[in-house]
Amino acid sequence: MPPINVQGKFAIITGAGSGINLCFARLLLSKGCSVLIADLSLTPPAEPLLTATHPHGARCLFKPTDVTIFSQLESLFPFAISSGLGVPDIVVPGAGIFEPEWSSFYHGDPVGEAESRYRTIDVNLVHPIKLTRLAISEFLKAKKPEAAVIHCSSIAGQVGKLGTPIYSATKFGISGFVRSMAELEGAFNIRISAVAPGIIKTPLWEKNPEKLVMFVEGKDEWIEPEEVAEAMLRLVEDAELPGGTVLEVAKDNQRVVAYFNDPGPREAVRKGTKGLSLGRGQEFDFKMLNVLAKERGDTVPVEVKKQH
Ligand SMILES: NC(=O)c1ccc[n+]([C@@H]2O[C@H](COP(=O)([O-])OP(=O)(O)OC[C@H]3O[C@@H](n4cnc5c(N)ncnc54)[C@H](O)[C@@H]3O)[C@@H](O)[C@H]2O)c1
Repeated sequence: MPPINVQGKFAIITGAGSGINLCFARLLLSKGCSVLIADLSLTPPAEPLLTATHPHGARCLFKPTDVTIFSQLESLFPFAISSGLGVPDIVVPGAGIFEPEWSSFYHGDPVGEAESRYRTIDVNLVHPIKLTRLAISEFLKAKKPEAAVIHCSSIAGQVGKLGTPIYSATKFGISGFVRSMAELEGAFNIRISAVAPGIIKTPLWEKNPEKLVMFVEGKDEWIEPEEVAEAMLRLVEDAELPGGTVLEVAKDNQRVVAYFNDPGPREAVRKGTKGLSLGRGQEFDFKMLNVLAKERGDTVPVEVKKQH
């Protein structure tokens, strides 16, 4: 597929009210690509984008959206057309949550359980799959010469994590989904790929402060969200990164995750790559084991052995 030049194009980005996807929105706007932000709300750093003047006449709009409600996802496309933005060339299902206690394996999901659902799965996995399906239809109906869907996977989609198993399952799911869509580039010039970042200090962590013990101070470094945004742009623009690519993003380092027999992020960590420490700090994992131990009636903390 010829590389997509983002100038004059239009992107729908969920979750761009904050964090990594806000940085990607900002980067696209700076290159003359219009953006529709679909999020529950905007954080203060996102608000100026709506009124700022962007290069090449690019526009930034916001539509309040709960990505777990299908009709709200669907309505993004007619809204974009009626606002004059048209059919998107790029779609990013970026909204995600980090298995908060209210929708977690160890504590359950009070609303979701009644419906046999976890909202962590609805936000992190069901919405990206549904939005991709909607986007493909819109790209095809509009006969787009080329288009892209860029997903947010994670290194948690390569390495399981005892403390946040649903989060890992959703990110493994995203990477598997993206791999499955690889052939759409050859067939329709629709590129579907994913970044798999390490650890970035965004509100995702700030909303889950109990998980900050996963980060081992002094041994690792946070990746800047701007680095992830640059990697997302590479996935759109770089002819050498075809559909189906899962691009690991570490501190000052990006790596295509091999389809088979990939050495995993731990190999990169051994070689000194920073920004991939998920799994090193195990205090949070052990705390969750003790949620289970209490169910057995244990009164002293369970003794934990590190498995790998
Ligand atoms: N921060 C990290 O260390 C890290 C690492 C790897 C992957 N990721 C992934 O990157 C993506 C962005 O994460 P981030 O770190 O920028 O987090 P963030 O919390 O800054 O941003 C996530 C956004 O998703 C939105 N969102 C959550 N639930 C929603 C819903 N139901 N409907 C609409 N919007 C909703 C939030 O309002 C927020 O603006 C996520 O998919 C996350 O899993 C993050």
